[in-house]
Amino acid sequence: MVANAVLTDTEPVIEVGACSECFTPMRTEVISFLGRRLDYAVLCECCQRRLTSEREAEEARNRAGRLAKAFDAMCPPLYRESDPQRLAGAFLRESEAWEFSPEGLGFIGAAGTGKTRCAWRLLRRLHFAGRRVYGLTATAYAKACADQFHDAPEVKAGAEAVLGRCRRVEVLLLDDMGKQRFTERAEMELFALLEERTGNLLPTIWTANAEKGDLKKMLSPDRAEPLIRRLVEFTKVVRGEDK
Ligand SMILES: Nc1ncnc2c1ncn2[C@@H]1O[C@H](COP(=O)(O)OP(=O)(O)OP(=O)(O)O)[C@@H](O)[C@H]1O
Ligand SMILES: [Mg+2]
Ligand SMILES: [Zn+2]
Repeated sequence: MVANAVLTDTEPVIEVGACSECFTPMRTEVISFLGRRLDYAVLCECCQRRLTSEREAEEARNRAGRLAKAFDAMCPPLYRESDPQRLAGAFLRESEAWEFSPEGLGFIGAAGTGKTRCAWRLLRRLHFAGRRVYGLTATAYAKACADQFHDAPEVKAGAEAVLGRCRRVEVLLLDDMGKQRFTERAEMELFALLEERTGNLLPTIWTANAEKGDLKKMLSPDRAEPLIRRLVEFTKVVRGEDK
């Protein structure tokens, strides 16, 4: 790199070196420390720009890879990819139009009308846009409510992690509400969860299959009203068109 040193009367000492990437000749400053010359790589402006954009592209690829891995870890394989052509209707429209706000979405409709697929497509979009999201079935939620008191420490810890995520994530999906009857414990937990999330202005997205009876059937008569009120009041309820 040392070539044609141009010594001036005063510091700094400038010499003609070369870009360490493309070897284009360029003027560089000689830097000395305690009388010893320090070697350092110099880059022309063009190479500097290129290396910066290469590094940024690499970082973007790594970030996309991490996001994809995290998404696959929470989304069941069946719902990771959906073809929107096969998902016409209100659920697709509303899930594509939804932007983050405290008002969630509730999908009510017959079996096989794409409620779960549209909900996961929405979660995917939000997740890749950097939102913290989490989704699970109401059955899995109820199981976590029971398992937090499990004797096996790893089961207990797993359940606590699930319930913590449900409380904290920016967008939560509770899929298939009403599929099974909730225990009193699960009902109370769900009530507290919805209270906490709505209080913190965190939206919840839920789906329920209308064919199998309404949400009431899953809940005890005295607690059904306040729970359903919380579910409905803080979500935009979308009813599916018949297939
Ligand atoms: N790869 C795909 N992309 C888009 N739609 C698909 C794909 N594979 C299957 N489907 C359609 O998705 C429908 C099922 O979607 P989904 O599971 O979201 O329904 P759902 O409303 O949640 O049903 P359920 O009430 O039983 O939970 C099927 O009827 C099928 O036509
Ligand atoms: Mg479903
Ligand atoms: Zn260069």
